[in-house]
Amino acid sequence: MNNRNSVQLKNTYVLKGGGEGAKRLKILAGATWPTTQALLERVGLQSGMHCLDVGCGSGEVTLQIARVTEPTGEVVGVDVDESILELAREEAQRHHLKATFRKVDASQLTEESTFDLVYSRFLLTHLPHPHLVVDRMVRTLKSGGTLVVEDIDFSGHFCYPNCPAFDRYLELYQAVAVRRGSDPFIGTKLLGMLIEANLEQVQMQVVLPAFHEGVGKLVAQVTMEHIRELVITSNLATHQEIDAIIEELKMFVSSPQTIISMPRVFQVWGRKK
Ligand SMILES: C[S@@+](CC[C@H](N)C(=O)[O-])C[C@H]1O[C@@H](n2cnc3c(N)ncnc32)[C@H](O)[C@@H]1O
Repeated sequence: MNNRNSVQLKNTYVLKGGGEGAKRLKILAGATWPTTQALLERVGLQSGMHCLDVGCGSGEVTLQIARVTEPTGEVVGVDVDESILELAREEAQRHHLKATFRKVDASQLTEESTFDLVYSRFLLTHLPHPHLVVDRMVRTLKSGGTLVVEDIDFSGHFCYPNCPAFDRYLELYQAVAVRRGSDPFIGTKLLGMLIEANLEQVQMQVVLPAFHEGVGKLVAQVTMEHIRELVITSNLATHQEIDAIIEELKMFVSSPQTIISMPRVFQVWGRKK
């Protein structure tokens, strides 16, 4: 193994994987599907394409891609978490969708000039060397193929009215992420990363999913629970404080008059020459 790969393999993922991770990803998928669907339409996803979803998690978007690319196309989802991939495979079977899920570290992608469209959402934020993975993803694209990435800028949250528990949750997530070597503000850097990766016609748009009802209102409290152990082991807060934050967030979102957002999401795409 060379140095490039050994640094990349360090575990910087701040969230839980497996079944618990999948439950959170389902909430996240429900909250973000409208903006992801619009993006996939805009970048020209269509029937017959061969696609790759990198860091696919439980395959929420992978399976949506399969619905479009069938019957002649294909989609492959890759992730490092075998237990979450197993759930994705079961879901594909249940819905009779043509999608393949493989355990692959994004820094170890070996395919070259294989895919028409490579997609990756909420992965690069977790990686200590995201440029290397962007390069790998570009290599897997055919000439003329499109790379599409979506990722977060944690500084872009808001809620209304003000909620101290929400502010504290944002502070704790950012502190834990930075300590783990991940980048909660990576969204703003994606445009430059795709230009530096030699893609052409690089385009971007920014979306800010915000909710007054529905599953999107649960994202903050569920994410707070997911980072609990890391917050505790980093001595950033006590269990008691985390319980209080979650309770206050639950109270806050229970009112139909409150608004709570996810992070600002940068959607960036470009074509391989
Ligand atoms: C926040 S989840 C996003 C999942 C999915 N893209 C979505 O939007 O629903 C991030 C995923 O990246 C995976 N992951 C983390 N590091 C990885 C790596 N080095 N290679 C591949 N997958 C990785 C995690 O296991 C997790 O499933």
